[in-house]
Amino acid sequence: MIVHDSAARLWVLSGESSSYVLHVDEEDRLRNLHWGVRLTLDQARSLLDRPEPTRRGFEDPAEGALDLAAAGAMWFGDAGLRVRFADGTRDLELVFAGGRRTEDELVLEFADRHYPLHVRTYYRLPAGGDVIERHVVLRNDGADPITVVRADSATWVVPRLPDYRLSQVRGQWGAETRLRRTDLPYGETVMTSRRGITSHQANPWAMIDDGTATEDRGEVYACALAWSGSWRLAVQRLPTERVTISAGFGHDPLAWELPSGAVGAVGAVGAGGGQGGRELVTPVSAGLYTAGGFGVASRAWHAYQLRHVLPRPSELRPVLYNSWEAVGFDVDMDRQLKLAEQAAAIGVELFVVDDGWFGARTHDAAGLGDWWPNPARFPDGLGPLIARVHDLGMSFGLWVEPEMVNPDSDLYRAHPDWVIHRPHRRRTEQRNQLVLNLARPDVAAWLHETIDRLLADNAIDFLKWDMNRPVTEAGPGDDTMWIDYVRNLYGVLDRLRADHPRVRIESCSGGGGRVDLGILRRTDQVWTSDNTDAFDRLDIQDGFTQLYPPMVMGAWVTDSPNPYTRRTIPLEFRFHVAMAGAMAIGGSLTDWSREDLARAAELVADYKRVRPLVQHGRLYRLSPPGAELSAVQFLAPDGAEVAVLACRRARRYGHADPGIRLRALDPAARYRDTATGQSHHGAILLSHGLLPDLPPGDYASVLVHLTRDDSP
Ligand code: DGJ
Repeated sequence: MIVHDSAARLWVLSGESSSYVLHVDEEDRLRNLHWGVRLTLDQARSLLDRPEPTRRGFEDPAEGALDLAAAGAMWFGDAGLRVRFADGTRDLELVFAGGRRTEDELVLEFADRHYPLHVRTYYRLPAGGDVIERHVVLRNDGADPITVVRADSATWVVPRLPDYRLSQVRGQWGAETRLRRTDLPYGETVMTSRRGITSHQANPWAMIDDGTATEDRGEVYACALAWSGSWRLAVQRLPTERVTISAGFGHDPLAWELPSGAVGAVGAVGAGGGQGGRELVTPVSAGLYTAGGFGVASRAWHAYQLRHVLPRPSELRPVLYNSWEAVGFDVDMDRQLKLAEQAAAIGVELFVVDDGWFGARTHDAAGLGDWWPNPARFPDGLGPLIARVHDLGMSFGLWVEPEMVNPDSDLYRAHPDWVIHRPHRRRTEQRNQLVLNLARPDVAAWLHETIDRLLADNAIDFLKWDMNRPVTEAGPGDDTMWIDYVRNLYGVLDRLRADHPRVRIESCSGGGGRVDLGILRRTDQVWTSDNTDAFDRLDIQDGFTQLYPPMVMGAWVTDSPNPYTRRTIPLEFRFHVAMAGAMAIGGSLTDWSREDLARAAELVADYKRVRPLVQHGRLYRLSPPGAELSAVQFLAPDGAEVAVLACRRARRYGHADPGIRLRALDPAARYRDTATGQSHHGAILLSHGLLPDLPPGDYASVLVHLTRDDSP
């Protein structure tokens, strides 16, 4: 709901339990007056009469309080909007040019006092929740180009708190999404990817609290950016104790031209903007306030993605099998068929053939770009394998990495100019591959046609869409490339989805290098990490689910010792860790013992029983990251079922497993353990906790499934 006081130039945007108050001040600056508990228009209006604590000395009270922070004059802080006009002027003087609103969207317009730059800032309240979606549109109404130095989607103004703490995830290949909570230093803390992809190293979201919030309590301010290329989140803590987070796309430093309306070349802006190419449309930055701690924040983000981001949230993600860890590049009909038979026998629903099925791709130095079945490996094409997989009752998935090329490929020999490169620079290879310049319309058209044909010619139900290296050697002349690349990728994915509605897509980028709200709008799940070691996974998954929902979190059970870490972990523990997401199997099934296969079939069946809770229910983290006993709870949307996954990594001598206190149960109800039949009082589970029957020793784990027992 959005209410407005036109005389006061004040807007109150209210979600389910929070409000966001905007005010255009006497100098036409867009100020944030409030982000927090729900307020009426009258209550919000009273904020205008409150004196600013910093109104002393030479400090500008608006510093650190502007929702649209435009560089210019006495603005010394971080500016989310920076331009350079043709005559070299960099200062913006924006004048309020009006606002319009509907029930759930507010658009505020500003124009420069002299130069022909027009700015629209959008606020949208997706139904049911407290997330606000924002973006900005820039338009050049003049004859000369305007250089855009920075166009952030949103500057989020965090209210004054006694102190500030920043939560983020950081990582690397094989160790993505490690949660870190640190005091917010003064100055500017920049979280960024300059890799052309979202990155393994950082992820475009941040949360701020006052240092005291917990899983269950405390105010949390969070924002995320829906973008899958280079990005930047600048968290600014001013000496005046104001904090802002400015979230934007584009490579940094970046300067691209906003062409004049007179030129109006479609696509020249690089951002696929609406009117004749004169507009630059930024991606969405979503923000969320909650008073309920990090747990509520995560659940609110998950609910938002299920309601408003994911293309098919109501579908349960299938248990998939992927052959990568089992065979590497040794993909052939025989072994794939054997794996498929084993997979079907233990309950797998989707069989995915990974890298190595096409061109001359028998290792990572050749064939990438040549998207036809390797004739020696699949003399009759993929048809017979797909048919057999379908006969076994599974759907069929295929790995592709269509944005890439090996120099040793027919594609590269035919089109060496298609890769991102600079004339006087080397073409840096990583994993023997180069990046196709998807920003070029001809390359994007080729990529679309290629995958479109693959899907048309084969009964493929699922694509694992990989992207294994970052972008290099893109120069200043290519600044729009960083944006057009991602827009064109989105365009191709959207078209493929529309034309092949049966196909589901997994976003992969050497593991979790492309996970963000932008890619999740057009894919169904993501490959979380190449690291499938269940011990490491507990931390990766904890960080992943801070923002992203378990239903998109691909989690494979693989062999032991783990091929990457060489750690030996029992089968059940590996399964129980994977059950906290979109569980899958990636082990060398043909080498598993008969006992392990039989137990695996039981564990797959266990997962299927609790899958609706895991994928559509609410997640409660019951232990801090790194705890000896790691436990998560999933509660069915109607509260009638509970699943608890408890995994003890290693126990120190003398330690006892603590009771695991469950959350959000009805204290008056009883809950029955579906395995043992034991009935528990809700009040006891909430206060004293569940005492799971964990086997002794390290790597002990259990799944407890409780159903609400309404019998008298
Ligand atoms: C990286 C992915 O993350 C792996 O799962 C696998 O698909 C390889 N690429 C194949 O090259």
